[in-house]
Amino acid sequence: RRGVATIPVVVHVVHNPEIPEQNIGDEQIHSQIAVLNRDFRAKNPDVSKVPPVWRSLVADSMVEFRIATVDPFGEPTDGIVRVETHRRKFEICASPGCPASERDQVKSSAAGGADAWPSDRYLNIWVCQLGSTPGGGTLLGYAQFPGGPPQTDGVVITHSCFGTTGTAQAPFDGGRTATHEIGHWLDLFHIWGDDDGACSNDDKVADTPNQANANVGKPGFPHVSCRNGPNGDMFMNYMDYVDDDAMFMFTQGQRERMNACLEGARASLLV
Ligand code: ARG
Ligand code: ZN
Ligand code: CA
Repeated sequence: RRGVATIPVVVHVVHNPEIPEQNIGDEQIHSQIAVLNRDFRAKNPDVSKVPPVWRSLVADSMVEFRIATVDPFGEPTDGIVRVETHRRKFEICASPGCPASERDQVKSSAAGGADAWPSDRYLNIWVCQLGSTPGGGTLLGYAQFPGGPPQTDGVVITHSCFGTTGTAQAPFDGGRTATHEIGHWLDLFHIWGDDDGACSNDDKVADTPNQANANVGKPGFPHVSCRNGPNGDMFMNYMDYVDDDAMFMFTQGQRERMNACLEGARASLLV
């Protein structure tokens, strides 16, 4: 691939009229797009905080995002779809016991959400109030990996973790939830490999150190696990779980995976 890939984005704001803060403003949406265009081009000012040992791994992924200017029917649009819902929040419903009909309701107008735009031409971002994780915390966002059904393709972000203005709330007011979820949408796995401390599975990226578990909050450097000393976990990577102001890099290896996705499963977005 030559040059920068520009991905058209549609933002579906699914809100309950009784809870006005769910109907986030245009400015908050544009603040999120601005963060994405810094983070995916390594133009984020905090990239300077990457520890010197990993500075040469910092990657410009050569991906940019533009809010759509043409809708699926060829008509002009501002790329923002506002839909009223009777639901107060949306549940991820990821556990095996949850019926498929209750999953991804924010992505279906029949279920009180908003239908996807064609996912071969747009990145769909749904913004709503999400419910809790299986663990009991509030879910910040979730993504669909490449290769899944088009009707549910895209990322979902809870409104208080979206963008940097309006209803965005610390410590997730840096727009990095969308950076992380779009990383998944471009085929990146969690940097610790989701193996619950076993050190046996990794993220299928060679230049990110093998890591035991997710890091949270604002860790101190170095944090060693899985015999990855002396430098330890690359917890400042967007694909860990730290606070927004503690994550600031993708690596060259991650850029290769995202690029392979854009030349493979998601190639239709590049035309
Ligand atoms: N899916 C993850 C969650 O809901 C997103 C974590 C994003 N991390 C962040 N600092 N914004 O927990
Ligand atoms: Zn994740
Ligand atoms: Ca790795």
